[in-house]
Amino acid sequence: MKALILVGGFGTRLRPLTLSVPKPLVEFANKPMILHQIEALKAIGVTEVVLAINYQPEVMMNFLKDFETKLEIKITCSQETEPLGTAGPLALARDKLIDGSGEPFFVLNSDVISEYPLKQMMEFHKVHGGEASIMVTKVDEPSKYGVVVMEESTGKVEKFVEKPKIFVGNKINAGIYLLNPSVLDKIELKPTSIEKEVFPKIAAEDKLYAMVLPGFWMDIGQPRDYITGLRLYLESLRKKSSSKLANGPHIVGNVLVDETAKIGEGCLIGPDVAIGPGCIVESGVRLSRCSVMRGVRIKKHACISSSIIGWHSTVGQWARVENLTILGEDVHVCDEIYSNGGVVLPHKEIKSSILKPEIVM
Ligand code: GDD
Ligand code: MG
Repeated sequence: MKALILVGGFGTRLRPLTLSVPKPLVEFANKPMILHQIEALKAIGVTEVVLAINYQPEVMMNFLKDFETKLEIKITCSQETEPLGTAGPLALARDKLIDGSGEPFFVLNSDVISEYPLKQMMEFHKVHGGEASIMVTKVDEPSKYGVVVMEESTGKVEKFVEKPKIFVGNKINAGIYLLNPSVLDKIELKPTSIEKEVFPKIAAEDKLYAMVLPGFWMDIGQPRDYITGLRLYLESLRKKSSSKLANGPHIVGNVLVDETAKIGEGCLIGPDVAIGPGCIVESGVRLSRCSVMRGVRIKKHACISSSIIGWHSTVGQWARVENLTILGEDVHVCDEIYSNGGVVLPHKEIKSSILKPEIVM
């Protein structure tokens, strides 16, 4: 069975992190986003993953080379010379997706995180007998997603409206699809939106079915949602009573600490924190609802909440970093600095406090 992951787009909403690596390689809970997906696909028997890329394919392919062997899964790349949207890349990868078996294939947006109930989706697809299945989930703010109106009993999709201006419903497209090869006959090789041009067509033919996704879901392509997603992901690990979660008197709630990270005396860490490989957290540090990427040093008595600290950055003594502060790679926050929602580009030194949310170039 095959799968395609849409990894185009420039990830602008996740800057400054995406100034250093393509969005799918940004770590989420100490693992590049895309690996969460590749592992889930491998687990249900997918043998080949096609990455639909329009930006920095070398970076992604070099990174994933090791994982092809480690995970025993074929990873190939289908590169666009111009951005083809969310459907065009499927037409471009047509020959890679069709192998004559007639089997359906998975398509995933690269920035969605969930428990990936893909086995259940395959069952659902088999039972309804339509042409395409999509996963849907309920959200409070449907206007920034694709909204799906469906027949509750069967899951048959009556309407698919991408980013509606007026309220249509609160079930939204979760960005996880299972499609029959015949869907490819409906897509031309040109910039096309699967949400605006393909799904409404299949729905009109009564061949599009939606399954309500069990468990949590989040599009982690924006800082606020990334931090919420981390909370939901760690909570789901807790429910599975995962041994990956940290324990100890200095830990509150759900926390992931890479085994190579060092935590000093008298710290209080959590809830909802991920600390990456090689990090050094000095004594007396307070961390909550934040992601600390590889190689970061947090000096004594610093306090960080609701923020993302990019790779190899340092946060000074008694510094206070909060309210969706996002530090790019290799940023240095000096001692006693306060950052209230600062978005700091890579390689900067922050010598004066950032009092209100703003971009620091
Ligand atoms: N190869 C390729 N080429 N991929 C692309 C392109 C392109 O031109 N444009 C976007 N993508 C990829 C993105 O990398 C992402 O994985 C996926 O397609 C969706 O694009 P986003 O930019 O993240 O879209 P969105 O979040 O606004 O909306 C989409 O996701 C929502 C769920 O998170 C839609 O599918 C909505 O219907 C959906 O609700
Ligand atoms: Mg998205």
